[in-house]
Amino acid sequence: MKKSDNAHPGRQLGVLDLAHRFLRSHVQPGDLCIDATAGRGFDTKLLCELTGETGRVLAFDIQEEAVESTRKLLADNGLTAEVHLESHANLGNFAEAGTVSCIVFNFGWLPRGSHEIFTHADSSIAALEASLRLLRVGGALSLCVYYGGANGFTERDALLDWLSALDSRYFTVLKCDFPNRTGCPPFAVFVTKDSEPSAADTQRSPE
Ligand SMILES: C[S@@+](CC[C@H](N)C(=O)[O-])C[C@H]1O[C@@H](n2cnc3c(N)ncnc32)[C@H](O)[C@@H]1O
Repeated sequence: MKKSDNAHPGRQLGVLDLAHRFLRSHVQPGDLCIDATAGRGFDTKLLCELTGETGRVLAFDIQEEAVESTRKLLADNGLTAEVHLESHANLGNFAEAGTVSCIVFNFGWLPRGSHEIFTHADSSIAALEASLRLLRVGGALSLCVYYGGANGFTERDALLDWLSALDSRYFTVLKCDFPNRTGCPPFAVFVTKDSEPSAADTQRSPE
């Protein structure tokens, strides 16, 4: 283990640590990336830093408060992204298929915000379906799944069903969880697009 891997001794490893390590290893300067759940902008900021001046970052959130927070965080750090007040269900309208390196989802509610507004299975799955089309071959999804509070278990179960059904000829799915933690510990999932699904498989409707 490198010294930097244990920069906060005594602090437990969390899903965001895993997600950010994955993003740092995966995203390159010049890449096009998307933060599908901008929130307070921490993931958008990291994507901007990793893609650099030659890259491009799009971010989405349905709450004005989140969009403003994200824009402020970026401005305070001299960074820019295209931050949209828009459901991620529509992110397929904002980029060309096969062009995006990484798409980040951090499900749940806005940190320090209302617990009554959170991600929902229908729009989340629609966004993930669109995301698979936008990813370039070699591109990846990074998901942090929070569940069991006000948002219950419906979205978590729908996400796990959707992930389990991804065709292993085209996609690798890695789930990282914490089996010795109690309560409802969030888990991380990483999906890589290993090759472009055939047209026949893309058109096949889910069972
Ligand atoms: C856990 S927070 C994201 C945290 C964020 N990644 C950060 O770094 O602060 C989840 C966010 O998803 C947003 N959200 C909920 N439904 C959404 C949707 N359909 N499209 C886009 N964002 C949505 C919420 O408003 C909330 O800000």
